[in-house]
Amino acid sequence: MSSQSGPRAIAALVIQRLLDKRQTLSSILPGYLKGLVHKKDQALAQELCYGVMRWYFQLDFLLGILVNKHIKAKDTDIKALLLIGLYQFRYLRTPPHAVVSATVEVCNELHKSWAKGLVNAVLRSYQRKSKHLLRNVEADLSARYSHPRWLLDILKNDYPDCWQEIVTANNSYPPMALRVNTGKVARDTYMTMLNQAGITAHRAPPWTPAGIMLDNPVDVNKLPEFMNGYVSVQDLAAQLSPDLLDLKPHLRVLDACAAPGGKLAHILESEPGLNEAVGIESDRFRFGRLQQTLDRLQLKARLIHADVRETATWWDGVEFDRILLDAPCSATGVIRRHPDIKVLRTPADIETVITVQRELLSALWPLLKTGGKLLYVTCSILDSENDQRIREFLNKHSDARSIIIDADWGINTHHGRQTLPGQNNMDGFYYACVQKT
Ligand SMILES: C[S@@+](CC[C@H](N)C(=O)[O-])C[C@H]1O[C@@H](n2cnc3c(N)ncnc32)[C@H](O)[C@@H]1O
Repeated sequence: MSSQSGPRAIAALVIQRLLDKRQTLSSILPGYLKGLVHKKDQALAQELCYGVMRWYFQLDFLLGILVNKHIKAKDTDIKALLLIGLYQFRYLRTPPHAVVSATVEVCNELHKSWAKGLVNAVLRSYQRKSKHLLRNVEADLSARYSHPRWLLDILKNDYPDCWQEIVTANNSYPPMALRVNTGKVARDTYMTMLNQAGITAHRAPPWTPAGIMLDNPVDVNKLPEFMNGYVSVQDLAAQLSPDLLDLKPHLRVLDACAAPGGKLAHILESEPGLNEAVGIESDRFRFGRLQQTLDRLQLKARLIHADVRETATWWDGVEFDRILLDAPCSATGVIRRHPDIKVLRTPADIETVITVQRELLSALWPLLKTGGKLLYVTCSILDSENDQRIREFLNKHSDARSIIIDADWGINTHHGRQTLPGQNNMDGFYYACVQKT
C-alpha cells in the first residue's frame, strides 16, 4: 500500500485481505484507515467496505455474469475493486461517470494498470445492461436478499413467516444505542447532557431502564464523559441480562464468557451490592479489552484469563448464585452490525459453536448452587444454537427446570425468548433462564 492510496484503493485492499485471509472487517479496517489522513476519506473507505459486505452476494452474482473469465487468486484486489464499482452504482449516489473514472484510476494505485481495461469494460457493461441484470437478481433469492444460500435455507426453516423481514433488517444500517452507567448518572440527566452536546436521542422502552437510542450514530469520543465512564455503547437487546438474572445484594455471580465486558459491566452497574462478580475470558486479546471496559467504567470484578470449561484450573469450589453464559455463537443476530459474517461464516462453523455451547453448559452446571439461576444468552437467531441447546440440556439434567420469561420484548420460543433483528430497533438475541432444583 502506498502512502498516496485513496479511499477506494484502501477499501479494495481491506476486502482483498478479508476474502483471502478470512479475517473480519473489525480486525482489519482500523489499521488500514490510519493510512488515510482525511476523516471524509476514512468515512468513504468504511462505507465501501461495509456496503460491499452487506451486498456481497448480490454484487458477486452480478460480477459472475459480467466477467466471463476467471479472476486469478492473486488478483482478488481487482475483484474487490469491481465489487466496489458495482456497489457505488447500486447503492451510493455517486454520478455514474464518476464511478467509472474513479474506480478505473484505482488500478494505478494498486500497481495493476493492466486491469484498467477490464474494470472499465465491466462497469460500462453494467451501465448498459443494468435493467436486464437486475431482473436476474430478482429471480435469484441469494442475490436478491444478499445472503448465502445455506443461511437463507435455515432462516426460511426457522422463521417461515418472517424470514424476509429478518434478511431485510440484516441488510439495513444499524442504529446506535447507549447504556447509561446509572451508578454515576441518571438516564434523564445524561439525556440532558446529550442534548446540550447537540446529540438528539430518545429514551429506550421500559424493559431497558438504562437505555438510550440515538437518532443518528456518532463517534464515541463525542459522547459526553465517555472516557469517565458515564455511558457505554450497547444494543438494547444486549441490555436485558440484569433483570433476567434477578440480581440482589450479596449474591455471587459468574460471567462465564465475559469479554469485552458489556454485560458484566451492566451487572455491576445494576447491583453494586453483590458479594462477588467473577468474569472469565479465554482469549488473551479480548481479556485485555475486558479489563479496559471495567477500568473506564470504574467498576471492579475478579477477572480470570482461563478456559471456563477447565474448571480445575480456576474454580475455588464455592458455588455461584447466578451464572451468565453469553456463549460464543454464529452471531447471526448482529449481521446488520457485522455484515461480513455472511461472507465469512460457513455451515461447519455453526456445528463447531454448537459443540462449544454444549460443553460450556455441561461444565458450568456443577458450579451453580441449588436454587441458583443460569442465564443462557446468544446473539444468534438460529434455533440450533438456542432452544435446541436448552431442550437438550434440560433432557440431560433432571435437576434443571426452565423459567418462563414473561416479557414485552421479543417472541416466545418455548424454552426462552428471542429478539429479532430490527424488531423494536433491536439486534437478534436469545435468552433462556434455567434454575437448579
Ligand atoms: C459473546 S462473547 C461475550 C460477550 C460479553 N458477554 C459482553 O457482553 O461483552 C463470547 C466470549 O466468550 C469467549 N469464550 C469462548 N469460549 C470460551 C471459553 N471456553 N472460556 C472462556 N471464554 C470463552 C470468547 O472469546 C468471547 O469473548
